[in-house]
Amino acid sequence: MSSRFGGLKLGPPIEVFALQKAFVEDNYEKKVNLSIGAFRTNEGKPWVLPVVRKVEKSLAADELQNHEYLPVLGLEAFSQAATSMLLGADSPIIAQGRAFGIQTLSGTGALRVAAEFMSRILHYDTFYYSKPTWENHKLVFINGGFKKACEYTYWNSDTRSIDIEAMLKDLDDAPENAVIIFHACAHNPTGCDPTPEQWTRIANLVQRKRLFPVFDSAYQGFASGDLNKDAYAVRLFAELGIEFICTQSFAKNFGLYNERIGNLVLVISDIKNVPQIKSQLTLIVRGMYSNPPNHGARIVATVLRNPDLFKEWKGHICTMSNRIKEMRTSLYERLVRLGTPGSWEHITQQIGMFCYTGLAERQVEHLINHYHIYLLRSGRINMCGLNEVNLDYVANAIYETVLLFPQNKTSCTC
Ligand SMILES: Cc1ncc(COP(=O)(O)O)c(C=O)c1O
Repeated sequence: MSSRFGGLKLGPPIEVFALQKAFVEDNYEKKVNLSIGAFRTNEGKPWVLPVVRKVEKSLAADELQNHEYLPVLGLEAFSQAATSMLLGADSPIIAQGRAFGIQTLSGTGALRVAAEFMSRILHYDTFYYSKPTWENHKLVFINGGFKKACEYTYWNSDTRSIDIEAMLKDLDDAPENAVIIFHACAHNPTGCDPTPEQWTRIANLVQRKRLFPVFDSAYQGFASGDLNKDAYAVRLFAELGIEFICTQSFAKNFGLYNERIGNLVLVISDIKNVPQIKSQLTLIVRGMYSNPPNHGARIVATVLRNPDLFKEWKGHICTMSNRIKEMRTSLYERLVRLGTPGSWEHITQQIGMFCYTGLAERQVEHLINHYHIYLLRSGRINMCGLNEVNLDYVANAIYETVLLFPQNKTSCTC
């Protein structure tokens, strides 16, 4: 009898996890992992933020803690604190009750719940994502019920900068009510965000064309070290009275990757709709995973609501973003010192965890196969994978690779 499971097609591998596996299985002593998006210390180790460790210890010792279910929409103390971190503690929109959050399974879970809510409940069917974008946006939105996936221009690979005119033109051509995914800060993978003036132009267009913005905020605080600066675009849209959805991840800025802690924020114009929205979100979550986990939510809520712990955490996000900035400068200086053909200023001009190096696919292949340096096919590298031990090795490898396989994209205005 034939198996019920026969005839299935093998799905394409997920590049970042395939590279991670290849890295782990590689025995080469000098191998370097610049692929997966996670912070590493200068010793190349994962970092449990000291404030997180401290709160974990106190939670473990607290006999009042238990393992009862959380409500379907999660821990309210967490989602309130997270929403206030996003929009600002003194946000009039929060005070008016026009913004609220629900706890989700990290940023991806927030996107998935948002997609299902927008497609099945609000009946939107078309979404736009930047070209390029985080590779999961399309899959999450299609699985969430959207029928039509479209790209908007974002990047000019010749100038290694945002092609703002082409981006605005594509958004202008989008149909009314199209859902547009924006990266709140530290655009992944390019590391280039619109300037404040560009955000104003984008916001005006969104309003004029009645587009529906969804901000993906995966790096608040982690990008610049400043929570307010990294929330600039989201707060601008809020101040302009635009209704939007924002998905927050606490994976990177709290180092809570595997705790799957996120928040889905809705900014709406009429508080009358809150009960209906919450009840529909409740049914979506109930039918998807019933209710979220406690651990990460409790940690984030405790830190954000306690002034001393909050201050300590803000120190940690500065430590992380400063280390990334240092690695950017160090790599740039080495490449220039070696006389590596091309221009490399973009390495220091981009922000966030990633650098969109501009290395071509052939060069990436060579770096992986010959030097055991693992990076994405797009040329994206995780700056945290660099440290004082491997910097010279990586810079030399890039230098030799660029000489061996010359490419012509040399200018940069990012
Ligand atoms: C742009 C962007 N959005 C969302 C996420 C979601 O991450 P998580 O689901 O781990 O919070 C990531 C993670 O890399 C990301 O880079």
